[in-house]
Amino acid sequence: MKIKDTLAQVKAKLLSGGIENPALEAKLILEKVTGLKGSKLIVYDDKDLIPTQEQDLNSIVLKRLQNYPLAYLLGHREFWSLDLKVTEDTLIPRPDTETLVEEALAEEFKSALDLGTGTGAIILSLKKERPYAHCVAVELNPRTLEIAKENALLNKLHVDFRLGFWFEPLEKGEIFDLIVSNPPYIEENDPHLRQNGLNFEPQGALVSGPQGLDDLKIIIANAPKFLKKGGRLLVEHGFNQGAAVRELFFKASFSEVKTICDLGGNERVTCGRYL
Ligand SMILES: C[S@@+](CC[C@H](N)C(=O)[O-])C[C@H]1O[C@@H](n2cnc3c(N)ncnc32)[C@H](O)[C@@H]1O
Repeated sequence: MKIKDTLAQVKAKLLSGGIENPALEAKLILEKVTGLKGSKLIVYDDKDLIPTQEQDLNSIVLKRLQNYPLAYLLGHREFWSLDLKVTEDTLIPRPDTETLVEEALAEEFKSALDLGTGTGAIILSLKKERPYAHCVAVELNPRTLEIAKENALLNKLHVDFRLGFWFEPLEKGEIFDLIVSNPPYIEENDPHLRQNGLNFEPQGALVSGPQGLDDLKIIIANAPKFLKKGGRLLVEHGFNQGAAVRELFFKASFSEVKTICDLGGNERVTCGRYL
């Protein structure tokens, strides 16, 4: 079948399957299968798909109709100004996390630590914007860490990546101007974990105890030991966790504690200064 007819057919299938942006997704899937990017897909839309391309296409569309995330099917996702490789071992970076990046960049820093780096989305964005900064990132899952390292290479950015549990891979006395983290923060019984494709993402990147606060508690309580005086901690959290997270910041003796809303108007990022 010709590319243009396939495009229309895929769009119709995605639409009837309840996919939100069927036209855009059909285009991205066709680009992936044919290797023809952007306007080339239109220029060559009279070409026929070859049988292997048709097979690939059918298997991708079938998975997408089962709510398997588009980013995993395409193998990459845009975040900030970066193109990042994603696999089933990584959380798919979310636009909400750009709120945290924006707030981190609101002040100058010479050193930054990212805890639970995933694809490297946050720390690579910071390094891109502040090339002179010394950037360290920690990740618990070795397969995830390999993807973060690949993303650093793909984007020609240097970050010191370390494997381990939150602050454990850091040396005693290693301190930073800025610590950032988007840790797992979903409650373990949250029904959303079985919806919207979340069930395909690594549960170790999402779930954090009965109230979703187990990892935030560890990070906030221990951060002062790894911050310079005047340094800042910024964490992402659930839309309904703002008050609980601010309380954890106060308990850990942070000053200037504030919560910032994401583009949807939900409390999303809390930060504080260690004085
Ligand atoms: C919500 S994801 C965030 C990924 C990435 N920072 C982002 O914003 O897209 C949380 C990440 O923390 C990692 N993680 C979970 N527990 C950890 C721990 N104890 N120490 C270090 N990393 C951890 C997960 O494997 C996952 O990659």
